[in-house]
Amino acid sequence: MAAFDLMISAEEINSKVKEVAKRISEDYKGESIVVIGVLTGAFIFTSDLVRELDVDVETLDFIQVSSYSGDKSTGNFVFKKDISFDISGKNILLVEDIIDTGRTLKKLCEMLSMRNPKSIKICTAFDKPSRRVTDLVPDYNCFTIPDEFIVGYGLDYDGKYRQFKDVKIVRIKDE
Ligand code: IMP
Ligand code: MG
Repeated sequence: MAAFDLMISAEEINSKVKEVAKRISEDYKGESIVVIGVLTGAFIFTSDLVRELDVDVETLDFIQVSSYSGDKSTGNFVFKKDISFDISGKNILLVEDIIDTGRTLKKLCEMLSMRNPKSIKICTAFDKPSRRVTDLVPDYNCFTIPDEFIVGYGLDYDGKYRQFKDVKIVRIKDE
């Protein structure tokens, strides 16, 4: 059985996404970008973010790299879906739901860098810096959160609860 505690409301998320989108738009003034959302968790954040951007988005696609089983990182990196276009010379904005250990994005950035983009920046909805085991630091972050497992706004626990509008701490009780 799962119990939930509200962490961040949909209203707070909405206004923060607008704020971050404004910063991104200012930073990329006069440039075009390629937005790459990291599936599955970033599907809602990516769609909210791009609709607030005031910058030329050349194209948008999703990439999928690995998944969690339950709430612990496996450390296994499985490449599930790649992008189909050439990113050399492009400004890449990688959009992620949450950065935990940082392993996923570190590996993903390494792989994308080999394709010679002009730049790669990371934008995450949530960041748990206390859990980091890599030197990864996002360029844009909406919310820094404590070491809690959260669901909603695209984030899941074993595939569930992605559709919640608010972000909630999930507590699993054995029964
Ligand atoms: P990392 O490689 O440890 O940084 O893992 C990042 C990925 O783990 C995210 O893209 C999520 O899919 C998942 N993840 C980490 N923490 C949470 C959480 O609190 N709720 C849901 N998913 C999480
Ligand atoms: Mg993810």
